[in-house]
Amino acid sequence: MAEQLWKGRFSKAVDSRVNDFNSSIRFDQRMIAQDMRGSGVHAAMLARQGIISNADAEAILEGLASISDDLASGKLAIDPAAEDVHTFVEQTLTARIGDAGKRLHTGRSRNDQVALDIRLTLRDESLALQAQIVELVKVLCRQAGENTASVMPGYTHLQRAQPITFGHALMAYAWMLLRDLERLADATRRMDSQCPLGSGALAGTTYPLDRGFTAEMLGFAAPCPNSLDGVSDRDFCIELASAISICMMHLSRLSEEIILWCSWEFKFIELDDAFTTGSSIMPQKKNPDVTELIRGKTGRVYGDLNTLLVMMKGLPLAYNKDMQEDKEAIFDAVDTLSLCLRTVTPMLDTMKALPANMRAAAAKGFINATDCADYLTKKGMPFRDAYKLTGQMVSDCIAANKVLEDLTVAEFKAYSDLFEADVLAAIDLVNCCEGRSSYGGPTAASVRSQIQQALAAAKEWEDAHAEV
Ligand code: ARG
Repeated sequence: MAEQLWKGRFSKAVDSRVNDFNSSIRFDQRMIAQDMRGSGVHAAMLARQGIISNADAEAILEGLASISDDLASGKLAIDPAAEDVHTFVEQTLTARIGDAGKRLHTGRSRNDQVALDIRLTLRDESLALQAQIVELVKVLCRQAGENTASVMPGYTHLQRAQPITFGHALMAYAWMLLRDLERLADATRRMDSQCPLGSGALAGTTYPLDRGFTAEMLGFAAPCPNSLDGVSDRDFCIELASAISICMMHLSRLSEEIILWCSWEFKFIELDDAFTTGSSIMPQKKNPDVTELIRGKTGRVYGDLNTLLVMMKGLPLAYNKDMQEDKEAIFDAVDTLSLCLRTVTPMLDTMKALPANMRAAAAKGFINATDCADYLTKKGMPFRDAYKLTGQMVSDCIAANKVLEDLTVAEFKAYSDLFEADVLAAIDLVNCCEGRSSYGGPTAASVRSQIQQALAAAKEWEDAHAEV
């Protein structure tokens, strides 16, 4: 069994069951690069402040670099018996450079160290998620651009309601995802605002640390103003899990639509064979497993958020070991969203829209009834009366197994003298769509302008995060 960092006051080795129970190396090794980065900056600060010698700091930095190289080349493996990643790095370093390694932890605790490591790790992972969302938005914009004239029924209560286009529907999801992007960026900005390093175990330290220096070197706006808060809050994990949960909710709704759209009942889209699965018994089946899994995994991510909220709700200041449970939950949320985005983006990219089927569905269900009532209203009939009369017409059509477009001008006129020959154009589905020219509506021009705006937002993100 690997040694503990804290064995001085104990006369017995820790029971192996406690060691296994206590150990977090299985999941916190994910933070090893960030842990070493924090240690390097801490060591440099200790030397600048004259707390350790320059020679010791150099030995530490070289030692950390050699560990990093050896991990990358596979020469060094992470010891699964180490208590946690911090223990593993410090012990490996000390084995390599001797006493200088033992000086690294001066003026630091694993409590401020772990609070720093999670922030640094989640900062990187949040950025990667944001990049994935940008890719998905671009795919949605491309598909929407090809479908600005694909008239389909828009639904309320999953009942055919009014005409929209497929492009308009896809852009609704693009806007949701762009808000998710903002939420992730905002959570990350707050995560980067306060550096916990230098909080010590809970009450700061007697060494003359330069917390401003470490905060700046590690990319934070400032050191956190309160050491107790610095080591013991995990609100940034909760905030990120919450932004991730909302994004999963959006993906889950989109998934549900895809599941409906690719069913025989709708057949508005055809998914690429490479993104569907078959049945072991039913030869005809082509199932949208990917989107079903996204819908299913959304519940799991909500579970992660709940784990974090419940874990924190009764904790007194400052660090409590309960908080070690933060990592599995937040990493699972990050990994699940990443996995979903990685799969759904190419699925949507390869999906084929079937506008003829959308149009056929739009022709049924009286989705132009509002337009018929609006026609009468514009000719002077009060809207409530127009609504009632159109309702009567719909009811008669249903009884006669017809749609409004099947009625002749004479038949229209039998309902009201206000009807003229131009009513046929007024209830034409394309015209109904194009007539909804209010800002944000389904016209081709509106959808094209939405695409432009969304792509500009995506580009703005990319420009701000371009490698320099
Ligand atoms: N593995 C621990 C965690 O993730 C590191 C902090 C340990 N601190 C302590 N006082 N035992 O929370």
